[in-house]
Amino acid sequence: MPTLDALVDRVHALAGRGGATGRRAVLGIIGAPGAGKSTLVDALLAALAARPPAGEGADWVAHLPLDGFHLADAQLDRLGRRDRKGAPDTFDARGYAAVLDRCRTAAHTVFVPGFERDLEQPIAAALAVLPAARVVVTEGNYLLLGASGDPAHEEQGWGEAAGLVDETWYVEVPDDLRRERLVARHVRFGKTPAAAAAWVDEVDEPNARLIASGRPHADLVVDPDRL
Ligand SMILES: Nc1ncnc2c1ncn2[C@@H]1O[C@H](COP(=O)(O)OP(=O)(O)OP(=O)(O)O)[C@@H](O)[C@H]1O
Ligand SMILES: [Mg+2]
Repeated sequence: MPTLDALVDRVHALAGRGGATGRRAVLGIIGAPGAGKSTLVDALLAALAARPPAGEGADWVAHLPLDGFHLADAQLDRLGRRDRKGAPDTFDARGYAAVLDRCRTAAHTVFVPGFERDLEQPIAAALAVLPAARVVVTEGNYLLLGASGDPAHEEQGWGEAAGLVDETWYVEVPDDLRRERLVARHVRFGKTPAAAAAWVDEVDEPNARLIASGRPHADLVVDPDRL
């Protein structure tokens, strides 16, 4: 299992390859709900900012979370999908792909949305990809869904994003631990333990199985508890 330092080295190598193509490199982080993607990305971004390539500053790395492309409740209500928030069709997949594409080449600042867990809503322009960025780290559960061959996913637009990522890492911890953390997080954000467990079974776990179909296509599997 790699160390965090080795992962930082790997991103440096990726950025070097991106530089050769004249655009930013994109690292995609995927994994089931609760696997620890956001926690790993936070640690990775801090480590990368602290160790930029020679001559560059902390803003050499930028963050584009798919979480920011959750449909807002107003749209989920229109579609009758509020009770399935987190499923592939509850994101703006094509909007995500379009912004990801801009983030690869734009010479100006690209403002990108974030996600507020207390509100459970996306927030426009919460983050920025600055002109100095050389690599974009995108945490996006469904990045490899386009490789599933399912026409429904193609229809939703997931194939577009898949083609814009240079390398993907699949974040994985043992399933029972992941589930335990997921239930605890739902409780922390206001659900009763019973409602949290039901949400995990009925919403998160079907999504987890979909995301797992992308695992064979990932370039690296990372257990964040073993870094
Ligand atoms: N090493 C750890 N020890 C204890 N708790 C952890 C650890 N890593 C992550 N967690 C907790 O597990 C939960 C899930 O982690 P995180 O939010 O990083 O997962 P995620 O893969 O980003 O989930 P999602 O797909 O829903 O965004 C969080 O509440 C987080 O605080
Ligand atoms: Mg997350």
